[in-house]
Amino acid sequence: MLIVTDLKKYFSQGLWRRSFVKAVDGVSFTLQRGQTLGLVGESGSGKTTIGRLVVGLLRPTEGSVLFEGINIFGVSRRESLNLRRKMQIIFQDPEGALNPRMRIGEILTEPLKVHRLVQERYIKDRVADLMAMVGLEAELYHRYPCELSGGQNQRVVIARALSLEPALLVLDEPTSALDVSVQAQILQLLRKVQKQMNLAYLFISHDLDVVRQMADQIAVVYRGQIVEQAQTATLFNGARHPYTKSLLSARLTLGEMV
Ligand SMILES: Nc1ncnc2c1ncn2[C@@H]1O[C@H](COP(=O)(O)OP(=O)(O)OP(=O)(O)O)[C@@H](O)[C@H]1O
Ligand SMILES: [Mg+2]
Repeated sequence: MLIVTDLKKYFSQGLWRRSFVKAVDGVSFTLQRGQTLGLVGESGSGKTTIGRLVVGLLRPTEGSVLFEGINIFGVSRRESLNLRRKMQIIFQDPEGALNPRMRIGEILTEPLKVHRLVQERYIKDRVADLMAMVGLEAELYHRYPCELSGGQNQRVVIARALSLEPALLVLDEPTSALDVSVQAQILQLLRKVQKQMNLAYLFISHDLDVVRQMADQIAVVYRGQIVEQAQTATLFNGARHPYTKSLLSARLTLGEMV
């Protein structure tokens, strides 16, 4: 369903913009419906940039992204609107993603109207269904984001993404800003809706334990490249690349400390 080939993104930098940061430097992978690929790697390794390229928020310096057989950077504006709908990205900070002046009900109504996915008279029912699906009480419909907890707001963000009936979700550290107990609930919710809607996930995290719970396969990103990719169990049983080994052992050392 998703085929990423030799993706590169160089950002120019410096006073005269003559030098480049190779944020992503030749990344390839594929992803099937219903599957999760985890992306792990240290801060600045290029994970977020990969995520933004995959959903078309950034144009690559080189390389291609094929989604359901379509080159996402080679389509007309109209087609691209429909493609964007099917590929949603969710970030760490839900408050930043939600308009503070809109009530939860309005936030969830808007995309349904823009994309005309549901007839006007069924919109309210659809919003109620979405809220139930992500575990939000109906009474929150009239509240504002500032009146909700971080976990509840992330549920709103997830509901809004699901309202567009996507096929792929890029989840960029979706639980990193949440308490550990809330984190577990959100991960559980993500697993549930993935099954229900047969979604493909590109799951980005610096937390190996979180990725281990979520991913079928894990790709390890180091300085803009995938240095190792394997089935989750295989990677945890015997990482080959020295960088992956150091990631795994750093995690063990931390575990021993607490
Ligand atoms: N818009 C931009 N302009 C210039 N440089 C950028 C831009 N976006 C990212 N970079 C650089 O690209 C590199 C990769 O950044 P990216 O945000 O993808 O890393 P990351 O793996 O997501 O890190 P983190 O774990 O901290 O979120 C970094 O060196 C970053 O400074
Ligand atoms: Mg990032």
